[in-house]
Amino acid sequence: MDPTQKPEHHGWTLERFVLERQREFPSATGEFTQLFQQLALAGKIVASRVSQAGLAGLLGHTGKMNVQGETVQKLDEFANQTLIHCLEAGGQVCLMASEEVDDPIPIPTRFPKGRYVLMFDPLDGSTNIDVNISIGTIFSVHGRVSEGAEPSLADCLQPGRTQIAAGYLVYGPSCMFVFTAGDGVHGFTLDPSVGEFFLSHPDIQLPARGKTYSVNEGNEAVWEQPVRDWVRWLKTPDKTTGKPYGGRYVGTLVADFHRTLLKGGVFAYPADKKNQNGKLRLLYEAAPMAMLAEQAGGAASTGTQAILDVVPQHLHQRVPLYIGSKEDVADAVARVSGSKS
Ligand code: AHG
Ligand code: MN
Ligand code: MN
Repeated sequence: MDPTQKPEHHGWTLERFVLERQREFPSATGEFTQLFQQLALAGKIVASRVSQAGLAGLLGHTGKMNVQGETVQKLDEFANQTLIHCLEAGGQVCLMASEEVDDPIPIPTRFPKGRYVLMFDPLDGSTNIDVNISIGTIFSVHGRVSEGAEPSLADCLQPGRTQIAAGYLVYGPSCMFVFTAGDGVHGFTLDPSVGEFFLSHPDIQLPARGKTYSVNEGNEAVWEQPVRDWVRWLKTPDKTTGKPYGGRYVGTLVADFHRTLLKGGVFAYPADKKNQNGKLRLLYEAAPMAMLAEQAGGAASTGTQAILDVVPQHLHQRVPLYIGSKEDVADAVARVSGSKS
């Protein structure tokens, strides 16, 4: 039965869902609900702009480079500014960090500071903006740990295991808001006619094993041999099913992860000879996705340790990522770490 039709879920908006969850935690002050309201607002604004990007002359490059050394697309900048403006004034956040900004983003002194630290990838999958392929926004929420008047970089450099919440928006055929606050993973779909996110995927469970792998095979020439062997193993017909894994690769982490979360399988961005730490960033790509994966019964690893146990050293540090179904990730780790051939 369609979960959205279950009586207890019918018409559940994101706001009501978070509020109901909030009631279960007497210590909750309502700050968390407000934080999610502002995140949802930012998502709706970006979703609206994404759906008209081609028309509003927003396509193409600003010509500026970001800390990652990539050309910054107009929508990256728009999404970045939208998230900052929606989140800086509400009094829930004490510090932010963004893929598009070299250093942590302080809250202007004219606004009150709250207890949450928000880090985000404002526009994930930038190279897909101009070709109308799904893109997304990824966010990670920690609690402030620093003492004293001003928050510090230490508030950002916390291991993923300490995240209070994590989630993403996927701007695809429909706009979805998927999050966890440590109590399962829940998906909401935007009804643009009323401007509300409605619960559509309660308690998402990652299948223990899937049928697809998702990796950029264009990098094979620079992969280490164990990674090549692992991918080749995936492509050999399975002894019991007689079928190999199918390949699926969108090139937007949010889209590739969303498919993996719902259907199972494994996504990987391995380290390679050019990038010893792979391409994806720990704080606002790998760690939030890892919390979602583990909360949904899956796994996420660097190939040698759980993503959520990595202690960050730098704001924009990169990590290799293997994420998805528990058994598929275990196979990957066993093979790429050389413990099984
Ligand atoms: P971003 O657009 O935020 O820089 O992220 C792009 C990332 C991620 O979305 C995706 O999984 C990966 O880049 C794809 O990289 P390749 O094009 O090298 O496969
Ligand atoms: Mn990204
Ligand atoms: Mn990005």
